[in-house]
Amino acid sequence: MAPLPISSISVGKIDDVQELIKSKPNKVPERFIREANERGVPVSLKSHLHHHIPVIDLSKLSKPHTHDDFLFEILKLSQACEDWGFFQVINHEIEVEVVEDIEEVAKEFFEMPLEEKKKYPMAPGTVQGYGQAFIFSEDQKLDWCNMFALGVHPPSIRNPKLWPSKPARFSESLEGYSKEIRKLCKRLLTYIAISLGLKEEKFEEMFGEAVQAVRMNYYPPCSSPDLVLGLSPHSDGSALTVLQQSKNSCVGLQILKDNTWVPVLPLPSALVINIGDTIEVLTNGKYKSVEHRAVTNREKERLTIVTFYAPNYEVEIEPLGELVDDETNPCKYRSYNHGDYSYHYVSNKLQGKKSLDFAKILN
Ligand code: OGA
Ligand code: NI
Repeated sequence: MAPLPISSISVGKIDDVQELIKSKPNKVPERFIREANERGVPVSLKSHLHHHIPVIDLSKLSKPHTHDDFLFEILKLSQACEDWGFFQVINHEIEVEVVEDIEEVAKEFFEMPLEEKKKYPMAPGTVQGYGQAFIFSEDQKLDWCNMFALGVHPPSIRNPKLWPSKPARFSESLEGYSKEIRKLCKRLLTYIAISLGLKEEKFEEMFGEAVQAVRMNYYPPCSSPDLVLGLSPHSDGSALTVLQQSKNSCVGLQILKDNTWVPVLPLPSALVINIGDTIEVLTNGKYKSVEHRAVTNREKERLTIVTFYAPNYEVEIEPLGELVDDETNPCKYRSYNHGDYSYHYVSNKLQGKKSLDFAKILN
């Protein structure tokens, strides 16, 4: 069956969460209340003590004292990608001003009156603009979050009508930030290639003019954080994702590890990196895209700035020959066009790792 034309999607009334808490701070409308088995249970102190996602010190890779230091950090990276699909990077060389600036303009954006933000609406079935993405029906539950998302690179994916004129510094800030994050993604992909025993330019050569998009997620406080989710469980369709949490951010991001939701404790000036579906496919499942979600907080709001870095839409994706062995490690994913995968990803609701069924060879 052909996909529904986007204009015919009926998503019902989507309340703006910031407006909701202004008018009725203690009420959580029915459409945000999750089934008991998917609620954002409060983060327990116990899990704080026992789980830390790996931390990779990028200075040990860019300026190692010894070759052993380099190899040790590469080994840590490879274990992080295999066992967690998530890690934090420190000493990433992105200047603190750049990071603080984007956080500042993003905050200013979300704090503008609704009428102003509504000039950049996210149309149903699309993923750019202000609103809620991945909503496809009137009864689908909503996330306790306001989002603002933009395609950044290559320029052909931009929708200039959605780039806001206010705050005045927004576009300039986002351009500067995106350039730095792009450099970081390229560096990380070279280290990831090395950690897999591939030549370091492998991904860069393959990805062509990589696609880069940004999503700013604003999670207002919620009077009943245990009933809602900030962001539904999902894996990212990207190759790599870079997540920046606002300064002094409370815990919000959780990842599913061994069937338990593990909180990611924000480290000052670190960036959170995760493996997306594309790297899972390319590595034939050696490195995994891990299901994650966001929960909300009773008192504090939380802002994240998330960059998705992926191959050009033209690129054909399949597990790399170097990482497949017919006898011991047979190919788990079929070959597909990345543009088709992206379309599949954005035209379905977020549902754990379900998107990857698109590529799985089932036997
Ligand atoms: C995302 C995401 C988590 C967060 O935007 O894909 O996983 O904590 N965000 O905002
Ligand atoms: Ni995500």
